[in-house]
Amino acid sequence: MKRKVIVIGIGAGNPDYVTVQAIDALNRVTVFFIPDKGTEKANLARLRRQICERFIPGRDYRMVDFTTPHREKSSPDYAKDIEAWRDRVEDVYQRLLMEELGDDDCGAFLVWGDPSLYDGTLRILEKIRSKGIFELQYEVVPGISSVQALAARHKVALNRIGESIMITTGRKLAEGFPNNVDSMVVMLDAGNAFKTVDGDLDIHWGAYVGTDEEILVSGKLRDVCEEIERLREAARQQHGWIMDSYLLTAPRGNEDEE
Ligand SMILES: C[S@@+](CC[C@H](N)C(=O)[O-])C[C@H]1O[C@@H](n2cnc3c(N)ncnc32)[C@H](O)[C@@H]1O
Repeated sequence: MKRKVIVIGIGAGNPDYVTVQAIDALNRVTVFFIPDKGTEKANLARLRRQICERFIPGRDYRMVDFTTPHREKSSPDYAKDIEAWRDRVEDVYQRLLMEELGDDDCGAFLVWGDPSLYDGTLRILEKIRSKGIFELQYEVVPGISSVQALAARHKVALNRIGESIMITTGRKLAEGFPNNVDSMVVMLDAGNAFKTVDGDLDIHWGAYVGTDEEILVSGKLRDVCEEIERLREAARQQHGWIMDSYLLTAPRGNEDEE
């Protein structure tokens, strides 16, 4: 029996970001796998449900909630810690696919933003497929990532003319702003890594971008750093969780013609 799954990028938080291709895919799905990543992520689970209710009118489908394994964050070996956690997540996905999908089913994972960016779903599915325990066929539908949403809301281009962009994490930025990079998008920054870099950089910061709770701040980093730190803390207190990212741009650069 061949098990079929679609990985659908649902955009970074606003149901209006769902593409026509995603709507078509949603309407082929019979079983939605909905992760419960803890209470702070309840809002995210709710968005996934809203999307199904809005875009799949009058058709039956099943929702299968599952709990993603907790990641031990105390380990000093980050890479090893991630690897062990991924193995446990993979076991959960494998069991779901085996137990929940029948011959006529089409399963789906609704991925926040776009599945290509800081999301493990594609890696996990490919690993399960390559083990060959059962036949697995999956396809991918791209979504509007938080990076695109951030740029659009700030009305900025990500790259300087003819230059490259780096997309990275707060953890990496804390190791230093590379001297050969002009533009950098920083995601997954739990610790205000922007405070550690040159205040001369320009920042375009956004939290809950695209949603009703959206907060946007931009300016010279040294001028807005404290404001962003304060807003982040207040938002985290208010909502119990935060999703924010930012673009850092060096003030000068070798701007070749495009
Ligand atoms: C695990 S990554 C997932 C990224 C996602 N696949 C995407 O395409 O945007 C989660 C990070 O994405 C960023 N993010 C996601 N949604 C966001 C939003 N609506 N506003 C600001 N940042 C967001 C934050 O940096 C957050 O820590």
